[in-house]
Amino acid sequence: MKRFVVVGHLASTDPDFSLNDLPGAGRMDELCRCVAASLCLSHGMRRDAGCLLILLGGPKAPKTIRFSGESIRNLSPDERNIAGLIKKALALPCGTVFRESSPGVEVRRGGLAEVLAACGCAVLDEGGNDIRRAGTLPETFLLSDHRHFSEEEQELMQGLPAYSLGPCVLHADMAITVLHNELDRRERGWI
Ligand SMILES: C[S@@+](CC[C@H](N)C(=O)[O-])C[C@H]1O[C@@H](n2cnc3c(N)ncnc32)[C@H](O)[C@@H]1O
Repeated sequence: MKRFVVVGHLASTDPDFSLNDLPGAGRMDELCRCVAASLCLSHGMRRDAGCLLILLGGPKAPKTIRFSGESIRNLSPDERNIAGLIKKALALPCGTVFRESSPGVEVRRGGLAEVLAACGCAVLDEGGNDIRRAGTLPETFLLSDHRHFSEEEQELMQGLPAYSLGPCVLHADMAITVLHNELDRRERGWI
């Protein structure tokens, strides 16, 4: 199982955000693209992948939404479709344990600290070590949205391995696509 955890620093935790203005909902457009990049193939789903969105915008923050390729249904890669699933998840009352809002989509209260407590992660960071020179990689990778990780987040992430995909700074969804490609190549013995 590969997991991509994306921190949405301004992303709305209010389910009433407009599907017609996803950038205005704290760059929800970018987070939706991250879900698509994590789970969608041209003709199918990556059943061995998941995506966790950490939403930090609004008074109900932090909330975490988990998308599981294993069990998700009716996911098309367009942003409005994915944003609709996010709205449904945010409208569901929840506590600190994941609760399913649609098949393969779950929501809970909590953010990065809770994710880090549950699994071993690596950070994807343009300033990290070249991933092509790395040995065994963990299953979970942490990314930021359009913003830098905050100081508090960097403190939580202290000591985690950090990997770079290349010299250019990419959008988070593009970084997920490139990372998937690296992992696909490793799994199929291309490198
Ligand atoms: C748009 S970047 C974040 C903003 C960036 N820190 C800045 O303000 O210049 C989105 C995220 O994609 C990932 N990313 C982008 N380019 C990358 C690269 N070359 N190597 C590894 N991760 C990358 C990182 O997780 C990064 O936080």
